[in-house]
Amino acid sequence: MTVHSKLNVLVTRDLPGDAISRLRERLQVDLPSPDEEIGHGRLVEHIVDKQGLLCLLTDRVDAEVLANAPLLKVISVCAVGYNNVDAEEATRRGILITNTPGVLRETTADLAWALLLAAARRIPDGDRMVRSGGFAGWSPSLLLGHEVHGKTLGIIGMGDIGTAVARRAAGFGMRILYHNRNPSSLAAEVGAEMVSLDHLLSNADFVSLHVPLIQSTHHLIGKRELDMMKPTAILINVSRGEVIDEVALVEALKMDRIAGAGLDVFENEPKLAPGLVGLKNVVLTPHIGSASFETRERMANMAVQNLLVGLECGRPQHLVNPEAFHG
Ligand code: DGY
Repeated sequence: MTVHSKLNVLVTRDLPGDAISRLRERLQVDLPSPDEEIGHGRLVEHIVDKQGLLCLLTDRVDAEVLANAPLLKVISVCAVGYNNVDAEEATRRGILITNTPGVLRETTADLAWALLLAAARRIPDGDRMVRSGGFAGWSPSLLLGHEVHGKTLGIIGMGDIGTAVARRAAGFGMRILYHNRNPSSLAAEVGAEMVSLDHLLSNADFVSLHVPLIQSTHHLIGKRELDMMKPTAILINVSRGEVIDEVALVEALKMDRIAGAGLDVFENEPKLAPGLVGLKNVVLTPHIGSASFETRERMANMAVQNLLVGLECGRPQHLVNPEAFHG
């Protein structure tokens, strides 16, 4: 592939592996030093002479950034979720947007299960007890949790990752319900039954969220939905924090209206809703769904490849706004 070396790209953060050095071999790369602040201001300032942008889900690529990017041709997001980009405005300006689907599916599904098991079986409570010297020996009622095998798993958003989470449930002999905009062609493979959102919420023992963040999924789970869940149910979120009304969730957990939650993502990341950290019935991880050595390297390679193809005027394999491509 030949990309003209005079092209300038902005990379907002160094990535694992050697993907960025491969980018440097072909393009002028503007990469902040590790101690440099990477804020919105820097993005607005540095985008002005760039044809390409390789960004993270934490970089807000809004109308202000795009208005200051007269040369920009490609935005390569190193994530599957690209809700950080004003896609409508980018498309209007003819800028291609790409993401990194597929490569993080299994890793993210693993983390959903780690949270599910940790919340159900109270692993963090047990870990804290043992470390603090509070373990005084086996006891019949010590840290009782909820069984997982044989229960009902409800998947909201039966896409790539939702299906991978559902597939793992076979080993636990679980019944699987799912809710999706359209019937999923993958559901039969995992024996999942499509139901309404309300049916899923009131029947599932574990509810796992796998929807993209779009207007219709913002606060998809709020007070009404939490009230519908079983008091013994556990809510898992590895998608985007804004899918849950976090204030309503804190209230539901505080009042034991549901049994627990496992959260990898937060509504105002990295800030947490008041009261969340004080709750015992929630397991929290810092947005690490795709954080394995192998997956982060695959994501970086894919993001670089998408950028190079787009800058070469080709159609990137993982283009999310084909309407902006005029090959
Ligand atoms: C994504 O890719 O959207 C995840 O949230 C981060 O890996």
